[in-house]
Amino acid sequence: MTANSTLGELLETGAGRLSTAPALASGGTPDLDAELLLAHVLGITRARLRSHAEDPVGAGAVHRFLELLVRRASGEPLAYLTGRREFWSLDLAVTPAVLIPRPETELLVERALALAPDTPCRVADLGTGSGAIALALAQERPQWRIVATDVSAAALAVARANAARLGLARVEFLAGSWFAPLAERRFELIVSNPPYVAADDPALADPALMREPRLALTPGTDPLAHLRILARGAAAHLAAGGWLLLEHGATQGEAVRAELVAAGFAHVRSHPDLAGHERMTEGQR
Ligand SMILES: C[S@@+](CC[C@H](N)C(=O)[O-])C[C@H]1O[C@@H](n2cnc3c(N)ncnc32)[C@H](O)[C@@H]1O
Repeated sequence: MTANSTLGELLETGAGRLSTAPALASGGTPDLDAELLLAHVLGITRARLRSHAEDPVGAGAVHRFLELLVRRASGEPLAYLTGRREFWSLDLAVTPAVLIPRPETELLVERALALAPDTPCRVADLGTGSGAIALALAQERPQWRIVATDVSAAALAVARANAARLGLARVEFLAGSWFAPLAERRFELIVSNPPYVAADDPALADPALMREPRLALTPGTDPLAHLRILARGAAAHLAAGGWLLLEHGATQGEAVRAELVAAGFAHVRSHPDLAGHERMTEGQR
C-alpha cells in the first residue's frame, strides 16, 4: 500500500490481511472489519467508502489504517480499536476497562422492560461496566430511577461518560462490591450480568477475551460465585413483588434456578438467547 492507494485498494488489502490472521481464524469477518476500521480512520460511513472506491487516501490515514490492521490481526477486539459498540441502539464508548457489551445481554433489557411496570420504578444494575443495561433502560423508561454500580472505578468512569454523552445523566453511579453501595435501599427491579466464566475455562485464552478485563469475565475458580452472592443477597434489596434478573452462562440455568428457589423467589424461570441457550434467569420476591 502506498500514500496514493485508493479506498477500494485499501479495503481489499485490509480484508486480505485479516482473512489470513491466525488470531482471527474462527468466525472472522475480514471484509466488514476492514471497512469499519477504514471508516473509523477517515471519519466517514461505510456506504461512502464503497461509493467512492476510486478516491485516493493520504499517507497519514494509510499509516493509521495499517497500524489498526496489525492490532486487529493480533486479535484485539474491533470495539476497542474504534472505541465504540452499539447496544440496544445506543452508541456506547468502550475502552479496555470495560467488557464489550454482548448482543445476548439485550435479552436482560427486554425482560426488565416486560416485567416492570411502565410507571415510576426503582432499578439497580449491578456490575454495570460500560453502563449498557442501565443506559438502555434509562433510554426506554425516562420515569425510572436507575442506580448503576461497579467495583471497578475505571469502568464507572466509562459508564458515567456514556451517560453524559447520551443525555442520560440522571442515572446514578455508585462504586462498590455488589450490594454494598446500595446500603438499605430497595428496588422494584435488580438486574445484573456478573462475571460467570471459570478462571480455568479454555475460552479465556481466546485472543479477544484476553484483551477484556479479567474482573469482568471471571469470578475465579467457582464460576457461580458471584451469581450465588447476587441470588442470596437480592431479597434484602427488593421491594415486595420486585424482580431479580440474572444473566449467566449457557449451562448455568439449572444451578441459578436452584439458587433462586432456595432463596425463596417465586416464578423462577430461565429464557433462551437467540442461539437457543438458557442465558438469563428471573425470579420474583
Ligand atoms: C460481565 S461484565 C458486565 C458489564 C455490563 N453490565 C454488560 O452487560 O455489558 C461484569 C461487570 O461486573 C463488575 N464486577 C466484577 N466484580 C464485581 C463486584 N464484586 N461488585 C460489583 N461489580 C463487579 C465488573 O467490573 C464488570 O463491569
